[in-house]
Amino acid sequence: MNKKLLAFLLASPASAEIIYASSYNDHAVTALNLNGSSLTVLGRNYDCGSEPTWLTLDKAKGVLYCLNEGWGGAASITSYKTSASGSLSTLDVLSVLKSPVSSTLFGADKSKLAVAYYDTSAFGTFDVSNPSDLKLLKQETYSLSGPGTVPERQDAPHLHDAVLDPTGQFLVVPDLGADLLRIYQVTDAVSGASAVGAVKAVPGSGPRHVAFATAGDKTYLYSTNELSNTITGYRVDYKCDAIPEFTSLFTFSTHGPGGSVPAGTKSAEIEVSPDQKFLIVSSRGEGLLKIPSFDPASPAEIVSDPLVSFAINGTTGALTHVQTAPAGGRNPRGFSLNKAGTLVVSALQDDNRVVVIERDVKTGLLGKIVAHATVGVGANNGPNYALFDE
Ligand SMILES: *[C@@H]1O[C@H](CO)[C@@H](O)[C@H](O)[C@H]1NC(C)=O
Ligand SMILES: *[C@@H]1O[C@H](CO)[C@@H](O)[C@H](O)[C@H]1NC(C)=O
Repeated sequence: MNKKLLAFLLASPASAEIIYASSYNDHAVTALNLNGSSLTVLGRNYDCGSEPTWLTLDKAKGVLYCLNEGWGGAASITSYKTSASGSLSTLDVLSVLKSPVSSTLFGADKSKLAVAYYDTSAFGTFDVSNPSDLKLLKQETYSLSGPGTVPERQDAPHLHDAVLDPTGQFLVVPDLGADLLRIYQVTDAVSGASAVGAVKAVPGSGPRHVAFATAGDKTYLYSTNELSNTITGYRVDYKCDAIPEFTSLFTFSTHGPGGSVPAGTKSAEIEVSPDQKFLIVSSRGEGLLKIPSFDPASPAEIVSDPLVSFAINGTTGALTHVQTAPAGGRNPRGFSLNKAGTLVVSALQDDNRVVVIERDVKTGLLGKIVAHATVGVGANNGPNYALFDE
């Protein structure tokens, strides 16, 4: 290599690590730059609408999708072109049914988006093959013949997440209101996915989010159940050309077997580490941990809810509690890991804060909070989701 070029490569600064965070109270998608211990705001975009929530990234195409729940206005999906500087250019804004809360890309070349709707009890698919021209493909609305075990939360079906399985052939959509995991098969039909069945969850558990883990030829699915604050593990058996079989392995507290949580606790996010060896769950409203304050002018310690980590036994799918660590503040509704599994970004909805926590890939232990930033304005309902541009 030419010496001048080598000198230039060695001197060039580490590439910026961009993080996106969505927040209700400032109605913005905030782009942040993580550089060592500094997390700074690069910019805010307001085109997602009144209540930005779930973000889905298509890294290969440099496209970010933002769902707007639309409590205070029309709900929508916004597509953005991302950039190295963190600025987001709006490609399209499509009005949709109220209350979209989670989405995932699926189909050939990630050309479709599946969306779960909470209040309106629906599942939808969209054609995103041209991100500048989003199109609704289909919408299915569900109903209940009567209220569920927890009537105040289970008055109707409440679809809360949409996750593609490791084969790319099935979507799993937990329904908190109906205590079901709704299963859709990815097909060549225009709609992209057809309902093929549902797995019954523990009555009154309220499955909210799910995550798959694979180990060799084995596949497991874990759900975090918001109403009972439990995790259910399933073994997933694929049959050729048929719907996979989900066998329940266990259900126990989000703090592990025998664990308990204070009244008012609501588990939220569940993620499997990139190496498939660990599972992390966030729990909201516990307020049992203390961490040093981020503000020199306020009290020395502040309250934090936890991120709870478990080791996955790849042979059996069993979970072993590894650590209960601070999430960085109150109401950790959403968090994500970076691709390497060395960092976790956590959105603290009641503290207008986003933090980055270091993570040991070998042990699965979360370490110190390496960086933090203020995201959101006003009381409560601040940042609810964050992810790395990776
Ligand atoms: C990261 O911070 C260092 C030290 O302040 C600076 O020299 C470098 O240019 C920064 N890199 C980026 C990509 O912002
Ligand atoms: C996984 O579980 C099996 C069966 O209980 C056990 O023999 C094995 O040691 C476990 N593996 C790990 C890594 O704990």
